[in-house]
Amino acid sequence: MTSETSHTPGTAGTPAFTVLIPTYNERDNVPELLRRLVAALLPADRPQDAPVPRLLFVDDGSDDTAQLLIAAAEDCPLPITVLHRDVPEGGLGGAIVAGLRQVCDGGGDWAVVMDADLQHPPDLVPELVATGRRERADLVVASRYLEGGSRQGLADRYRLVVSGASTLLAKGVFPLELQGISDPMSGFFALRTAAVDPAELRPLGYKILLELAVRSRPRRVAEVPYHFGERFAGESKSSLREGLRFLRHLTGLRFSTPGGRALAFGLIGLSGVLPNLGLLHLLTQAHMHYLPAEVLANQAALAWNFALLEATVFRSRRHRHWASRTARFWALGNADLLLRIPLLALLVSGLGMGVLWATALTLVASFAVRFLIAERSIYVPHREAPRTPAAASAPLPVPDLATAE
Ligand code: GDD
Ligand code: MN
Repeated sequence: MTSETSHTPGTAGTPAFTVLIPTYNERDNVPELLRRLVAALLPADRPQDAPVPRLLFVDDGSDDTAQLLIAAAEDCPLPITVLHRDVPEGGLGGAIVAGLRQVCDGGGDWAVVMDADLQHPPDLVPELVATGRRERADLVVASRYLEGGSRQGLADRYRLVVSGASTLLAKGVFPLELQGISDPMSGFFALRTAAVDPAELRPLGYKILLELAVRSRPRRVAEVPYHFGERFAGESKSSLREGLRFLRHLTGLRFSTPGGRALAFGLIGLSGVLPNLGLLHLLTQAHMHYLPAEVLANQAALAWNFALLEATVFRSRRHRHWASRTARFWALGNADLLLRIPLLALLVSGLGMGVLWATALTLVASFAVRFLIAERSIYVPHREAPRTPAAASAPLPVPDLATAE
């Protein structure tokens, strides 16, 4: 369970937009970050009656970042809300979704997500929102890969390579969904709140933009170049563990669409030819009659497919008991063999089709039928657990951190 604590100094009306900043032990960045955000968001030539943007911090750390922010809120000209999560579910991505739930509930029509360590320049925030409004976009990504942008702040060559490789990998796995997004690894972007439903996001770790691009499918995306600077103070929280989490996130996301699952189902099915022929070869070498050998080889292919599908495509849909999944899968695989033979006979002897064409046709038909049965009856999607009222939409009725000390 995630318990949330908020602190909102008296503010009236809907903010112009919300700047959503996740923090994890960023105490030494707080003063400089607030100073630069105020300078960027409240320039001297700004009309007096224009609505003011709001800052929303979602803090998961163990240091006094939240307390410092609340103390600073007392005399900051920008309204500040601090949400502290005792259970940091979903890590950085989870923090952003928790923030988005609040923003979508009256935080203005745009949310800008940025880091607290000043690697993302605060002066770009107004431009991201202005670009989104001007171009009627749903999403504006601050990109290091456009002309005029750079990755100079990445700590060393290792990080440069890892970041470049993850970008290529993500673009390769999601060529359609990431069209028009040159920097899908960016943690700096503006989002039109009406275009996103936080309830459909299931982030895992750092790469929330990837999650948004794939699951919310923004209709129009714009980009603005920026220089990714150096960390102002403190330490980066990214690690090898985050890297592995990214890979899990990427595969999970890929298998979240029926098209992605069907493709992988087909490829895994094809790969089953290997154990099938391998065992067939061994058994016939050992002088077994080829018919029982075929049947046994088919069992090897089934076991191979089952293990791979369980570990990848249907990993998150293993809700039925394992014995039930195994029995159903095994029955499906063998029924397939049994049903394909009369179908094949019908096509070849009845309709005069060539054996190769008829086999190909029965294989494609059986692939489609097996995929549908696997999806609908073996790996049924999880029924949504109802969200807790606090997490859903209600304003957070929780103690003020500043006075709770
Ligand atoms: N609430 C919360 N919870 N915030 C977190 C967590 C967490 O578990 N982990 C990190 N943060 C915050 C940090 O405090 C910081 O404000 C921001 O998220 C980014 O964390 P860094 O530790 O500075 O990560 P980074 O510099 O390696 O990664 C940044 O650059 C990447 C591009 O290379 C992030 O912006 C990534 O989103 C971005 O993809
Ligand atoms: Mn950073």
